[in-house]
This record gives sequence, structure tokens and C-alpha cells, in this order.
Amino acid sequence: MHHPDHEPDHCLIRLWFNLDRQIARRRAQIIGPLLALVAALFPRVALADIRSPFNPASPQGDAIANLFWFVIVIAAVIFVGVEGAIIYSSVAHRDRPGRVPSQFSGSRRVEIAWTIAPALLLVIVFVLTVRTMNQVSEPGSQPLRVDVLAHQWWWEFRYPDENLVTANELHVPVGRTVELRLESTDVIHSFWVPELAGKVDANPGHPYTLVFTAQKPGTYLGQCSEFCGVGHAWMLIRVIAQTPSDYEAWVQAEKRPAAPPTGLASEGQRIFMQQPCQNCHTIAGTAASGTAGPDLTHVGSRQTIGAGVLANTPANMERWLQNPLAVKPGALMPNFNLTPDELRALAAYMESLR
Ligand code: CUA
Repeated sequence: MHHPDHEPDHCLIRLWFNLDRQIARRRAQIIGPLLALVAALFPRVALADIRSPFNPASPQGDAIANLFWFVIVIAAVIFVGVEGAIIYSSVAHRDRPGRVPSQFSGSRRVEIAWTIAPALLLVIVFVLTVRTMNQVSEPGSQPLRVDVLAHQWWWEFRYPDENLVTANELHVPVGRTVELRLESTDVIHSFWVPELAGKVDANPGHPYTLVFTAQKPGTYLGQCSEFCGVGHAWMLIRVIAQTPSDYEAWVQAEKRPAAPPTGLASEGQRIFMQQPCQNCHTIAGTAASGTAGPDLTHVGSRQTIGAGVLANTPANMERWLQNPLAVKPGALMPNFNLTPDELRALAAYMESLR
């Protein structure tokens, strides 16, 4: 859903100009261009076709965006009213020779009005917020359950009903509600894919759920949004929403163990099993069954390497294996000082795991 570009509100500027042209002219030399710049930039930054909650792609995202717009409109009206009153008062009632301001104190009517009006507004916003919270956490009758395990600095996705495990790229069918159960293995992370759903923390030992229903096939980008250490900025998320048949094909492919490698890739497999790789990674159908790092059974079919840090190409795979820390600061995979031949073979093996 796309919102039309909202025209920047010039009321404040106009009011300013009409009040006192002399003062306005002087101040406008500085503030005018500044306001114009902010007005010119803000709608573009906030509403451009970027990954943002302003371009929701799910009913849950729509509900959050609607609530946000409602609150921002109320806040804007209050802001313009209050600032307008301040500007009007300071110009209209400024010190002038021979003029004494009227002397009075207190007004019960005004006191009551500005106590009741904000209280009423807060009640309205509270009720709408609770309603939206209930709306966006309703998983429906047949949700697709996915257990999300956050690690420093990657995501593990477990599909209990399909009995499969993958990492960093969450495949979902469009039109079906997905219920994520978020947990962390180390520190607090936060799962956020702005177009699809709100932001929910992944805590160690205290799972939370997050629900969304992707409406259109596509790749939705997300990001860990709770500072979780050195690799935080590179803890990216991809939600790949597919048609039900494409999704089913993906599930079937994921369920198959890795195909036996041939040629250079089989040399790569030999290196993988000799090196400490298998202590941390699982490749179904082989002896490698480590669980500290991402499951690599189908790593060759993923779009990116290292939780979104590099596009998945053979050259990038070599770069990653050569020195992960040079590509992703803080990465927990050490540099194993592999030779160029070993790197080429190992990368070929990784890319063969489709
Ligand atoms: Cu994980 Cu920030």
C-alpha cells in the first residue's frame, strides 16, 4: 500500500509571515530556508519507496501503519496549535512602549478544558493501540509455525512441522499467517522486518511470538534492531515470500540431504571434514553435525553469505572463507588460514550445496 506524497504543511510559515512582516523578514532569512529544507526532505525520507513501516505489505503492517498515521496526525495538530499559540503570543503581546498587558490569573474553564482534552485523547490512543496489538498478534487457525533462534550474529529458522532448519533467509508462503516463536541463544536481539510486522525482541529463555501474513511474493528485508554486539549491524534478515507452490517446492528441496559432491566440490568436502568446519556446522547427509553455526545443508541456494553481508557468489564465498572477520567484524568464525587452492575447493563445495 502506498500513501500519496503528503504536501508539507506551510501553515506555520504563513502564520509567521502574516503576524509581523518586519520580524518575519529578518528571521525568515535563516529559518525560512531551514524549514523549507526540512519540509522538502522529510516526506521524501519518510515516504519514499523504501523498506519502512510506511509501505506495509501485510494486514499486520497495515494495522500498525494506520495507528501510526492516526497518532501522527493528532500529534501534528497539537504541535501546530501549541507552536502557533506560542508564536502568536510572543509576537502579538510583545513589549511595546506605552502598553500594559491585561492583569489576571487563573481560569477554571481553561484548566478543565486542557486537563480533559489530553486525557480524552490519551484514552482514545490507548484503546486504539490495544485494539491494534490484539489485531496484529492474532495467529488465526492454521498458522505456519517457525522457531526463530537469534545468535550473535545470525538467525536460525526451525520449521517444527516440516522438520527442517535453515538460516538467515526465512521462506514463507504468501497468504498464510506465519507465527514466529522468537528466542535467543545468547544476548537480546530484536527481529524486525518493517514491511511485514512490528518489532519483537528475541530474549534468551523467554520466547515471544510475532505474527504476520505476507500478501505478495517478494523478498522483504529486515534487520536485528537491538544492539547485540560487534556484529549487530550485519545481522540482517531476509523474508522470502513465495507462492504456495513455490514454497512447497522449496520445502521439498530443503528436506533432501545435500547431494554428494563431484569434482572440485568433493575435494572441498574432504577439506571441510578435515578442518574444524564440521565442529560448528551441520550438513545433512554427512558426518558434519555441529550446531554452533548456521546449518549449511543448502547454503549454496541462499541469496547471501554471513547473514546478509555478501551476495552469494563463488568469489564472495572464497572471500568469506579466507577471512570472515575482514568481511564481517566480530564474526565468530575464525580465519583458518586456508591456502588459495583449499579456498577454491571449499567454496566450490559450499556452492554445490543446493
Ligand atoms: Cu542481534 Cu543486534
